[in-house]
Amino acid sequence: MKAVLFDRPGPPDVMKLVDLEIPSINKNQMLIKVRYSGVNRPDIVQREGNYPSPPGHSEILGLEISGIIYKIGSNVTAFKEGDEVAALVNGGGYAEYCVADQETAFKIPNNISLKEAATIPECFFTVWSNLVMRGGLKKNDCVLVHGGTSGIGVAAIQILKLFDSEIYTTVGNEQKKEFCKKLGAHYVFNYKETDFFDEIKIIKPKGLNLILDFIGGEYVKKNINLLSSEGKLINIGFQNGSIVDINLMKVMLKRLTITGSTLRIRDSSFKAEILSQLKKFVFPHFENGEIKCYIDSVFKIEDVIQSHKRLEKGSHIGKIVLEF
Ligand SMILES: NC(=O)c1ccc[n+]([C@@H]2O[C@H](COP(=O)([O-])OP(=O)(O)OC[C@H]3O[C@@H](n4cnc5c(N)ncnc54)[C@H](OP(=O)(O)O)[C@@H]3O)[C@@H](O)[C@H]2O)c1
Repeated sequence: MKAVLFDRPGPPDVMKLVDLEIPSINKNQMLIKVRYSGVNRPDIVQREGNYPSPPGHSEILGLEISGIIYKIGSNVTAFKEGDEVAALVNGGGYAEYCVADQETAFKIPNNISLKEAATIPECFFTVWSNLVMRGGLKKNDCVLVHGGTSGIGVAAIQILKLFDSEIYTTVGNEQKKEFCKKLGAHYVFNYKETDFFDEIKIIKPKGLNLILDFIGGEYVKKNINLLSSEGKLINIGFQNGSIVDINLMKVMLKRLTITGSTLRIRDSSFKAEILSQLKKFVFPHFENGEIKCYIDSVFKIEDVIQSHKRLEKGSHIGKIVLEF
């Protein structure tokens, strides 16, 4: 089968399309003939050598796929060969065939195409588990999500709308600002032109309930100072650095929680719990059109290098997809 590998960490052109054996499955797994694979920032961090695949995970890039079930293990009961599915996978998505656990695969919600379905798992699992399960998001909370047009940001804004949240976000240009407003964010700040900290201090002097951040660096101090009493800061990434100088007095005085998580290393029972909550609380909104999959661009697998270059450039809005 065709698959994308790299033999040393580095820039996009270390990736090569190679021929590999089709992987084997155990009795709880399924082999999916991949039609689409979502491209995520963690793929780039892995390619650069800073996020190695955990033991037992495929060395091939790619954390989410959609396609047709080609083969099922003897314990698989929820699916049959020929079904169209999407899945959160333990690597291996940038390949013609990919192994998926039955616990983290799902039938495509009505109203969603196979192409769109490949963009759901990584961002919706991550956002739901952090905002709702870890963050304890409540109705009408005031929430800041940085990077509103990222795959993560677009999923987060749409989930926050289900909770009638007052939504704050940051973006890097005016086109992205317009997009986030249309998507449902109430306050959008172009971080290259205004300081979101100064603006939010004026709009919401009492502070925010929850902040989802993957920027880190100088944002950590600002985030802490923007939270209200009992507020929570959740970091799922540190694009601008994870070593920061902060005064923890505010954490004590405001009884804050500073937390974070990564999805990939969690076990399949935790991922199955996220999926069961998504099916109950989010998938019906895909089906009625309230939540949409926003695809920025689609690249043939042969053009995988271009797909990473586009993500790295940062001008995309929503998700980038690879097509087989
Ligand atoms: N912990 C986990 O389990 C987990 C899972 C998935 C993803 N992640 C992390 O979540 C992040 C987003 O992933 P993704 O795949 O959605 O990436 P993505 O689509 O490439 O988004 C990155 C975004 O960051 C924005 N950005 C860059 N500098 C910024 C700044 N100073 N302030 C505000 N926004 C800024 C970029 O656009 P502009 O600069 O134009 O605003 C872009 O929208 C990544 O850091 C990724 O590693 C973590």
